[in-house]
Amino acid sequence: MPAELGKLTVRDIDVRGKRVLVRADLNAPLKEVDGSVVVSDDARIRASVPTIELLREGGAKVIVSSHLGRPKDQNPKLSLAPVAEHLGGLLGVEVPLAPGLVGEAVEALVDGLNEGDVLMLENSRYEEGETKNDPVLAEQLARLADIYVDDAFGACHRAHVTTEGVTKFVDTSVAGLLLEREVTTLRGIVESPEHPLVVVLGGAKVSDKVAVIDSFLKVADSILIGGAMCFSFFTAQGHATGNSLVEEAGVELARKALEDAKSSGCELVLPTDLKLGREFSADTDAMDLEGVDVPDGWMGLDIGPASAASYAEAVKSAKTVFWNGPMGAFELEPFAAGTRTVAQAMADATGVTVVGGGDSAAAIAEFGFADDVTHLSTGGGAALELIEGKLLPGVDALDSTEEADRG
Ligand code: 3PG
Repeated sequence: MPAELGKLTVRDIDVRGKRVLVRADLNAPLKEVDGSVVVSDDARIRASVPTIELLREGGAKVIVSSHLGRPKDQNPKLSLAPVAEHLGGLLGVEVPLAPGLVGEAVEALVDGLNEGDVLMLENSRYEEGETKNDPVLAEQLARLADIYVDDAFGACHRAHVTTEGVTKFVDTSVAGLLLEREVTTLRGIVESPEHPLVVVLGGAKVSDKVAVIDSFLKVADSILIGGAMCFSFFTAQGHATGNSLVEEAGVELARKALEDAKSSGCELVLPTDLKLGREFSADTDAMDLEGVDVPDGWMGLDIGPASAASYAEAVKSAKTVFWNGPMGAFELEPFAAGTRTVAQAMADATGVTVVGGGDSAAAIAEFGFADDVTHLSTGGGAALELIEGKLLPGVDALDSTEEADRG
C-alpha cells in the first residue's frame, strides 16, 4: 500500500508562463567513447523526464538543476554537458547548458526562456556553497524561479542549497512525480506492507545496513542476508571464515541483530551454503561449499545454489519484497549466480517487488530485469535513510498539503 506524501506536487499547481526550477538527480555514470564523454546508464535521466514533460505541457519555463559526482573545484570532467545533451535527446528538444548555477549570465539565459523551453544549470557542486547549504547562494538561486520542484529523490537526504536551502526563498515548493512515487512506495513498504513481507539484504558491510535491519525486524516476516556482510554474522556465530572479507566492526552489530531477531516476529535468515574462490578474481579456482565454515586459503564470494534457490522461493511466495545489495561478487561471472537468481525471482514474483538503488539496481539492470519489477528506486542512500525512518530534508522542506488546505 503506498503511503501518503503529505506534500503538494506538480499536479497541484498552475505553471503557465512561470519560471520553474526543477531539482533532478541526474548524477548518472559517464564513459568515454571515441574521445567524447557520454552517459553510460541513463536510468536516472529517464526517470526525470515525466515531471519535465508535465511542466512543459503546462506551459512552464523549465530550469533543471542537478549535481554530478563530488567535484573538487570545478573539475571539467564533471560538467553536466553530456547529461544536458542526453536529456535533450530524450525530450526531443535542445537543452542548452548555462555556464553556472547562478549569476548574471545565467539570469540572462532564464530571461530568454519561452513557455516549454528547458535550460540546464551547470553542476551545482561546482559552487562551494551548495553542500554547505549557504543561504546567500540559496537566495541567488531562488531569484531564477517562481516555483521550485524537487524531483531529486536520490539527493533528498542531503540538506544542500538545491535540495533544501532554496525552498526558504521561493514562495511555492512542491514535489515532482518521481519524488512522490519513490517516497510513497518506499514508505508504504515499512508503514503498511502486504504480508508476507520478505526483505533481501546484501552488500559488504553490516554497518551500512544495521539500521535497515532494525526497521525491518519490526515489520517484515523474514530478512534474508547475503553478500560479504554475512561473514560478520558467521563470525558472531563462531564459524570459520577463511580469507573472506569480514567487517570486524560489523561482528558486534550482527550479534545484536541475531539477538534482537529472537524476540521479534521476523526471521533473520543466513545462507546455508556458499560459493568459494581462492581470490577476488574471475579466473580464480572456485568451488561450492555445503555449509558455511570456510576452509583456510578460500574466501566466500557468493551464496551457494541451495541458499539462492531457497531465497528465490521466499521472494516468489511473498506479497511484498524489498531487495537491497548484491548476494555476492556479481561483477565476476563465476560468482554472479546468487545475485542473478534473486534478480530472476524478483522478475518472476507476483507480489509487489521493490529494488533499492545502488548496486542491486545496477545488478537487476545488467541482468535485463529492470522493467520486470514494480519499482526500481533511483536513490541508494536516500532509499535506505527513508526506510531507517530518518527525516529527508529535501522532502520535509516542501509545502505540505495541510498548510495549503488551511490556506
Ligand atoms: C547518489 O548517487 O546516491 C546521489 O546522487 C547522491 O549523491 P551523493 O552521495 O554524492 O550526495
